[in-house]
Amino acid sequence: MHALIINGSPRVKKYSNTDKILGKITEGMKDSGSSYEQFEISDRSQWNTIRERFYVVDHILIALPLYVECIPGLLMEFLETVEPIAKERLAEEASNSRPKLAFLLQSGFAEGIQLRCGEAYLEMLAGKLVCEYAGTLVKGDNFSIRLFEDEQREKIVGKYAEMGRIYGRDGAFTDEECRKFTGPEVFPLPIRLLVGLMFKTMAKKSFNDMAKKWGCTKPLTDRPYGK
Ligand SMILES: Cc1cc2nc3c(=O)[nH]c(=O)nc-3n(C[C@H](O)[C@H](O)[C@H](O)COP(=O)(O)O)c2cc1C
Repeated sequence: MHALIINGSPRVKKYSNTDKILGKITEGMKDSGSSYEQFEISDRSQWNTIRERFYVVDHILIALPLYVECIPGLLMEFLETVEPIAKERLAEEASNSRPKLAFLLQSGFAEGIQLRCGEAYLEMLAGKLVCEYAGTLVKGDNFSIRLFEDEQREKIVGKYAEMGRIYGRDGAFTDEECRKFTGPEVFPLPIRLLVGLMFKTMAKKSFNDMAKKWGCTKPLTDRPYGK
């Protein structure tokens, strides 16, 4: 199979974690004998080409990061311009030839549960784009991909190659292995307490230090419009 892959991150390719994940996904797809073409939402000069390809391909994979619990705004802006094209295609062809649309939803925080609302939205979105929903690969714990290199990066992204092999084989992320790939939905209570403590102490201090370094003069908890 051949897939149109869209990196939905607003970050430019060089700094995008999604891009590094896609590097492994496409490695796995090639192992399964599949081919692909990849485009970046962060590069507006590619939008016309992506729309044109969206109109003709049979398999589409949109990979996106979770931004403030939501779909990145830039990707939404792009998708709003795609819907009429998908509808046009449907009018021309039999309804059973809808393109298969799969998603890869990834995030910084690790618990699967925080991505489920986004996943439900993406399933609905596939219908709105007049595509057949082909599942969503859901995975967190990706904050540090772009900060690491070589072996350390490989430790985080290496496991995506197997998911790429499955996607290349099925054109979908509906296999049971893809569901298991998410990891824990919710951390056990002791870990949640530890993470909570870390955020109240170490992380708080490091965010405050960072803000100071960037010239921030007000506390991070300041609410100038909340008074
Ligand atoms: C503005 C912004 C908002 C984010 N919001 C969330 C969030 O709500 N939940 C989460 O788990 N991670 C969040 N993250 C982390 C990203 O999802 C994560 O780092 C992802 O791997 C970034 O992929 P990218 O580099 O391709 O954009 C956020 C990151 C940024 C920059």
